[in-house]
Amino acid sequence: MIRICPSILNANFDDLPGEILKISEVSDLLHLDVMDGKFVPNFTFDFAKASAIISASKLPVDVHLMIADADNEAIPYAKTEALSITIHFEACTNPLATLKRIRSFGKRAALAVKPNTPFGAIEELIQECDMILIMTVEPGFGGQSFMKEMLPKVEAARNYLDQKGYRDIWLEVDGGVNEETIALARRAGADTFVAGSAVFKSENPAGVVETLRHLADAVK
Ligand code: DX5
Ligand code: ZN
Repeated sequence: MIRICPSILNANFDDLPGEILKISEVSDLLHLDVMDGKFVPNFTFDFAKASAIISASKLPVDVHLMIADADNEAIPYAKTEALSITIHFEACTNPLATLKRIRSFGKRAALAVKPNTPFGAIEELIQECDMILIMTVEPGFGGQSFMKEMLPKVEAARNYLDQKGYRDIWLEVDGGVNEETIALARRAGADTFVAGSAVFKSENPAGVVETLRHLADAVK
């Protein structure tokens, strides 16, 4: 199963409902990047704005929290109508407890790792994860180049999930995913793909989503 998740980070913020409408019919999830200006050097939405977007979205929302003190700051998001809440391993003091708390609100709990964090750092936490996010750029900004050197990490995660029989845990990649790179990430074992600028900087966002799905599907 392949999931394509457009990120609205590079969409037109003055007309988010209109932007989301462009991709709703063809996308699996809406990826919402919450940045606090502390964990990453960029700010996107405060909780009020993010929760308004979540409530208004017809697509299930995949919330990517790039915020410090995730152990505490993630909890209000876990109480929204989002489908999935992703916290960064690097932003937590007690990631296992926080993942459990997110699940206790009926949300899918996901753990993200920045490029410099090895997969081995989170292996012990996977029992409480519904998704793993391998960042394929340094988090903070859209429009960066896909880091091919992250592919072995995606493969390591895929091998681990397969060996342990974790069939229901999604493996997501985020950053620089486009028509040139999606097949590489798929071949390495990802099943859930975030794409920001590739989709929203295009003249035909829905067409790009369909092309990305087709390219991922075509990988044997
Ligand atoms: C980056 C964000 C991404 C971003 C991806 O920190 O987490 O979700 O929107 O944008 P592109 O696809 O342009 O790299
Ligand atoms: Zn993201």
